[in-house]
Amino acid sequence: MFSLENRVAVVTGAASGVGLAIVRRFIAAGAQVAMFDRSDASTIAEQIGGTFHLVDVADDASVGAACDAVAELHGRIDVMVNNAGVFNTATIESSSDDDWTRQYRINTLGPLHGIKHAAQHMPAGGSIINTSSVAALMGFPGYGGYSATKSGVVALTKVAALEYGSRGIRVNCICPGSVETPMLASQGNAADEIGLVTVASATGRIVTPEEVAALVHFLASNECGSITGAVIPIEGGLTSGFTPALAEAAIVSSQRIE
Ligand SMILES: NC(=O)c1ccc[n+]([C@@H]2O[C@H](COP(=O)([O-])OP(=O)(O)OC[C@H]3O[C@@H](n4cnc5c(N)ncnc54)[C@H](O)[C@@H]3O)[C@@H](O)[C@H]2O)c1
Repeated sequence: MFSLENRVAVVTGAASGVGLAIVRRFIAAGAQVAMFDRSDASTIAEQIGGTFHLVDVADDASVGAACDAVAELHGRIDVMVNNAGVFNTATIESSSDDDWTRQYRINTLGPLHGIKHAAQHMPAGGSIINTSSVAALMGFPGYGGYSATKSGVVALTKVAALEYGSRGIRVNCICPGSVETPMLASQGNAADEIGLVTVASATGRIVTPEEVAALVHFLASNECGSITGAVIPIEGGLTSGFTPALAEAAIVSSQRIE
């Protein structure tokens, strides 16, 4: 079930975290996987049976050339996972155009480049999955640039689903909450974010990369042929409302203010 046998897949941001977990899962499911990243992952690609391509997703030509190379080797691209992303925090007052532009080029233009170039080699039955974030669904103070660029991914997904639907290509996006990856570990506010998730999510814990990979695997398979244009949270219920622990903390805090 959910076999990816004979499917040709591309994963961006494949050298680390969520992307690497997706690559491992796709290979286990029988796919031939091309790993795109701006960090060298040729050794790991060789070890696990993928191929590595040095790609900057912010660069249209770089993504185009790598997609052409994959198509030349395998004849087509069946699955495109636009997963590469970067994160930075800054309040609106301290935000700079340079930082927003950098995040926009990677987080929003990156998926645009991936969709555009992979779709040129994609037959009917193809599946495109974009990695957005829970930060596109709810606001977090200091996450303005990241939220805005990930919200763009949600909008792009819906438009792409409509534009490519008649060719039999599905386009979906996932919105993970905090995931246990090097990105999260490198955040200056990682401990605060994990603490918040522990109290504010229904599951009381952060998400694992393997759980995200399982969702992407499902979306990549032919068994969900009627799912397109979907925006799927994978955040342990963080967006569902107030947990009892959060409500209690808020009440205790408000009593202190009184
Ligand atoms: N970790 C989280 O808490 C979390 C939560 C929600 C969404 N996400 C999203 O999930 C995706 C994967 O994140 P992760 O946590 O695995 O991060 P990560 O930092 O572990 O991995 C990201 C990968 O993307 C690559 N990358 C960055 N910029 C690139 C570029 N311009 N061109 C090519 N490759 C580039 C990096 O080299 C790295 O290998 C990102 O889009 C991120 O925004 C992560």
